[in-house]
Amino acid sequence: MHRHPQVLPHSSQVGQVVECHGAIVLSRRYAGPGAYREHVTHLMYGRLAPWWPLLSPPEDYAEESAMVGGLLRTGTRTVRTVLDLGSGGGHVASHLSSGLDMTLVDMSPQMLEVSRRLNPGCEHVLGDMRTLRLDRRFDAVLVHDSIDYLLDGSEVAAMAATVAAHLQPGGVAVLVPDHITESFEPSTQWGGSDASDGRGARYLEWTWDPDPHDSWAQAEYSLVLREADGSVSSGHESHRFGLFSHQQWISMLDDAGLSAVAVGEQTDEDRPPRTLFVARARSRGA
Ligand SMILES: C[S@@+](CC[C@H](N)C(=O)[O-])C[C@H]1O[C@@H](n2cnc3c(N)ncnc32)[C@H](O)[C@@H]1O
Repeated sequence: MHRHPQVLPHSSQVGQVVECHGAIVLSRRYAGPGAYREHVTHLMYGRLAPWWPLLSPPEDYAEESAMVGGLLRTGTRTVRTVLDLGSGGGHVASHLSSGLDMTLVDMSPQMLEVSRRLNPGCEHVLGDMRTLRLDRRFDAVLVHDSIDYLLDGSEVAAMAATVAAHLQPGGVAVLVPDHITESFEPSTQWGGSDASDGRGARYLEWTWDPDPHDSWAQAEYSLVLREADGSVSSGHESHRFGLFSHQQWISMLDDAGLSAVAVGEQTDEDRPPRTLFVARARSRGA
């Protein structure tokens, strides 16, 4: 099927979703917090999930996965079971899973499907990190960049309760927000890659903070997707991400019974190093 280029209608309204089966695959903008929450299932993790391995290739996660893997093993227990909350395409998990029993949880069925192909030996569970209860505990819990989608203290509290409910005594949880308030700076990044079948994907990510007084900032994603037949689609989607200070993270985790310390990331990548949080369940009475 030959596809003809199209342009975004000028009349597209804030919050309106435009999806054409032609060149423009999406456009999502949001007027306010309510409008955002109504549309919080992102197309990037929904219909566009099959593009995830090209937009953000698994090999790009090698360096940070090595650091995360080391931190997951800083508890007093031998780590055999790991719960990964918001595991996405399983790109981090693909670097960690050797020798471990990993359970990968995501709220997107499409992202779980992508991850199943990459990580056939891992258990996959459809679930929300704010409400999940598996009624079993793990030697370690990881919440990687998916944690960014928690936009206020109540959502972080719900996630922290989930972590506490699944962590074995002596186990460690590692939480990896992309940004904290102290180090956040507006930035522009781009990336993507090509597949051997002719498909290719590129993104531009532009982060900014519309209001420094609230608990979230925004990322604008512009996507350009090339099919194997050479036809090209493009589109835009806004994502909001939570922005909390070092002390807010420590205290929100503390409220859930988790004692946390911050660890500065060591990275050779061309971006500001992240601040990771390493949390342990407090024993009762401590
Ligand atoms: C940037 S992707 C994660 C990529 C992942 N680090 C990887 O290795 O591929 C963010 C993921 O977070 C998931 N997510 C966002 N909020 C969530 C929630 N409350 N519970 C579970 N998953 C969530 C999205 O569905 C999406 O798959």
